[in-house]
Order: sequence, then structure tokens, then C-alpha cells
Amino acid sequence: ASGGSFYELVGGSETFRRIAASFYENVRQEPLLLPLYPQDDLDGAARRLQLFLEQYWGGPHTYQEERGHPRLRMRHAPYKIGIAERDAWLRAMRGAMDSVALAPEHDQAMWEYMVRAADFMRNTQEA
Ligand code: HEM
Repeated sequence: ASGGSFYELVGGSETFRRIAASFYENVRQEPLLLPLYPQDDLDGAARRLQLFLEQYWGGPHTYQEERGHPRLRMRHAPYKIGIAERDAWLRAMRGAMDSVALAPEHDQAMWEYMVRAADFMRNTQEA
């Protein structure tokens, strides 16, 4: 693929697969996050994150076909997400993004989105 969407510019599906896989490797090392995730289906969780990010950045809409409208705040309502969880999530994602080493302008655009999205997911005033 050439030109076009951000999805294509950063390397397509393989890039998002690597980000999601690396993110969940980091989650496994993160005591604040790991208990929140389905212990028997971390690979499934990684795939859902991959497909969501692909769709968000202009790739295929497989996420929507399989899961429906993202409604991410609603889907996160069962988990207590405060400042500490947000920051742990962002640390795991920062490491995952470092592992693919996007061009600086692409890295910046994606990181700004991640910071905003993670803050949006907070659902408790507690730390
Ligand atoms: C799902 C935690 C932020 C995207 C989940 C799940 C947990 C979780 C426990 C369920 C795992 C599964 O079965 O898929 C958290 C925590 C966050 C956070 C603690 C702290 C900020 C985010 C952000 C995004 C995101 C910022 C997107 C940029 C997703 C997606 C799913 C998911 C796409 C799968 C939804 C589905 O079921 O289709 N998250 N999350 N999460 N999360 Fe997060």
C-alpha cells in the first residue's frame, strides 16, 4: 500500500499487531493492570486492541464487524480506572510504541491520541 491513510503510512496491520502484542507483554509485567484483564484470554484482548487501533487509524473495519460500535468508555466501566491505572496503561503503551519506533511525526500523533484516550477512560476520582 502507498500514500493514503495513517494506517498505511505506519506500515499497516503488521505495525498494529506488534504494538498490541508488545503492549500485552508489558501488561503481564504490570501488577496494577494484569488483574483487570481476562487471564485466560490475553491473546484475544491483544487482538481486540489491534483491530480497534487499525480501524481508528484508517485501516479495515474488522473491529466494528466483530464487536460493534467501540463504546470504549462503556466497555471500561466495569474496571476502576484512576490516575494510577491510566499512568500504568500509558507506560505499557509507551513501551509498545517504542518497540515499533515510528517516524517522529507519526509517533507524536499516535502518542497524543493515546494520552487523550487514556485520560478519557478514567472513571473514578480516586487515585
Ligand atoms: C478492553 C483496561 C485504556 C482500548 C479492556 C479490558 C480491560 C481494559 C481490562 C478488557 C480486556 C478485553 O477482554 O478486551 C484498560 C485500562 C485502561 C484502558 C485499565 C487505562 C487507561 C484503554 C484505552 C484504549 C483502550 C486508552 C484505546 C486507546 C481497549 C479496547 C478493548 C479494551 C479496544 C477491547 C474492547 C472490546 O471488548 O471490544 N481495557 N483499558 N483501553 N480496551 Fe482498555
